[in-house]
Amino acid sequence: MSAVAGKIAVITGAGSRGGQGEAEARLLARNGARVVLVDLPGSDGAAIAAEIGADLAEFHALDVTDAEAWEELVSAVREGYGRLDILVNNAGVWLQKGVLDTTPEEFRKVVDINQTGVFLGMHFFAPLMKEQGGGSIINTCSTAGLVGGGMPHAYAASKWAVRGMSRAAAHELAPFGIRVNAICPGVINTPMIEGGEAMLDLLAATIPSGKVGQPDDVAQLVLFLASNASSYISGSEIAIDAAVSA
Ligand SMILES: NC(=O)c1ccc[n+]([C@@H]2O[C@H](COP(=O)([O-])OP(=O)(O)OC[C@H]3O[C@@H](n4cnc5c(N)ncnc54)[C@H](O)[C@@H]3O)[C@@H](O)[C@H]2O)c1
Repeated sequence: MSAVAGKIAVITGAGSRGGQGEAEARLLARNGARVVLVDLPGSDGAAIAAEIGADLAEFHALDVTDAEAWEELVSAVREGYGRLDILVNNAGVWLQKGVLDTTPEEFRKVVDINQTGVFLGMHFFAPLMKEQGGGSIINTCSTAGLVGGGMPHAYAASKWAVRGMSRAAAHELAPFGIRVNAICPGVINTPMIEGGEAMLDLLAATIPSGKVGQPDDVAQLVLFLASNASSYISGSEIAIDAAVSA
């Protein structure tokens, strides 16, 4: 019996084919969890959920910056399952710009999705987890939330915020049995990396092992943090970057 069998999970940003959210949804479902894949309308979320199978997965369209939409999602999960065991705040966007070039609008947009989206997920689902006496929240940070140098400005700012919010929430929610951890992937081969094989080769050369990570590498960490096997781990940020930030 898998450590997440029978658990209910919500994963944001799970509608990108080849993305980390898809890999996480598939791995949790393979281990017997029931997964609600969340992403923007028009994403591949519905198709991916159908491929996983209606008995283990469903798609819910949601923009993570929309507080009302989060409230509706909580109501749907309450109605459908009566609980939520695992929340993976994975949705995010990249902006390859520095402090000189980022416009105020661009900065706000990145922060809105990468940071406020994570806050809203925790804010709206933590009460349900509190009622049921526990849960595991996994927030997707980045190497860009561990180091600042060389990272795009708004993206790094939003990911450092995710790390801080995760620690603060872990402390606050611990008395209710809710664990909160941040995961910090390095270079992972997903649609977020623009530039194809040439870019992946360039990036691989910056990694001590010479290897770019795969979405499944990150999904394995999410599975562990979602499961009771990690029951004493909370308030941590875990680098999954083959020593890039070491
Ligand atoms: N790929 C990497 O190298 C890497 C490294 C470190 C961290 N990350 C982080 O991992 C997470 C997953 O990224 P990925 O690499 O799988 O990229 P991806 O682009 O494949 O997936 C990101 C998903 O987020 C969704 N999304 C964007 N804005 C949204 C919104 N407003 N509401 C709902 N969904 C929205 C997108 O539709 C997409 O499905 C992100 O938070 C990203 O910042 C990625």
